[in-house]
Amino acid sequence: LPRYAVFGNPVAHSKSPQIHQQFALQEGVDIEYERICADIGGFAQAVSTFFETGGCGANVTVPFKQEAFHLADEHSERALAAGAVNTLIFLKNGKLRGDNTDGIGLANDITQVKNIAIEGKTILLLGAGGAVRGVIPVLKEHRPARIVIANRTRAKAEELAQLFGIEAVPMADVNGGFDIIINGTSGGLNGQIPDIPPDIFQNCALAYDMVYGCAAKPFLDFARQSGAKKTADGLGMLVGQAAASYALWRGFTPDIRPVIEYMKAL
Ligand code: ATR
Repeated sequence: LPRYAVFGNPVAHSKSPQIHQQFALQEGVDIEYERICADIGGFAQAVSTFFETGGCGANVTVPFKQEAFHLADEHSERALAAGAVNTLIFLKNGKLRGDNTDGIGLANDITQVKNIAIEGKTILLLGAGGAVRGVIPVLKEHRPARIVIANRTRAKAEELAQLFGIEAVPMADVNGGFDIIINGTSGGLNGQIPDIPPDIFQNCALAYDMVYGCAAKPFLDFARQSGAKKTADGLGMLVGQAAASYALWRGFTPDIRPVIEYMKAL
């Protein structure tokens, strides 16, 4: 069987195996998809063992996306722009190609599943870590009117703003309306949300959290109470990035909608 895997640490709770098995059902093929918990410091070794023993492709999650970027022999433009790799493709010539499908997953979920256009809209990005950095290049491709970034540690937002040619604003000074507000901070699991004024949600068509489940709840509850018309957690983004990886490996583009529904019902 064609072999795939997701590398991470920890990785035991990754939903990628279930998602990719649903894609394989759609394609009508059998695949193997496993979780591999690499030691910190042992990622490169684990990846080369996997590909030497017949692996065809791999996903990479926290904390190895930057290491995967350095490990890849060649990169897609998206991966180069993001400086991070979540998808490794084993090429016929023995080389390893790195891509990044996180931005595609986010943008497809917003535009195709939630049916909200990004083009011409004003977007606020909260957070300036790896998760946010990875999605900015693809958001820009969708031609929003503005992208504003705000982060607790101001300097990190300013660094990304300069790198990607977007605007940075101090968290407490964010004002005015935004059509789409995306939370990419990681405090949600501890019940923490970024310190932003509630009135920025008044004309917000969509408040989105890049994580899914309980970790998204504090931000999405706050957004709804503050007037956001629609809220969404990152399950669609997760399925969407997986679908884009699957298409890169196999040349088959899965339909994400039924898989999002399947994962919700699990
Ligand atoms: P990831 O790869 O998930 O993006 P990261 O690189 O550690 O993880 O980034 C975490 C992001 O969440 C950062 O933007 C961080 O803000 P700082 O740069 O100020 O550290 C943000 N974050 C984490 N906890 C937060 C909290 N309680 N309030 C606001 N922002 C928080």
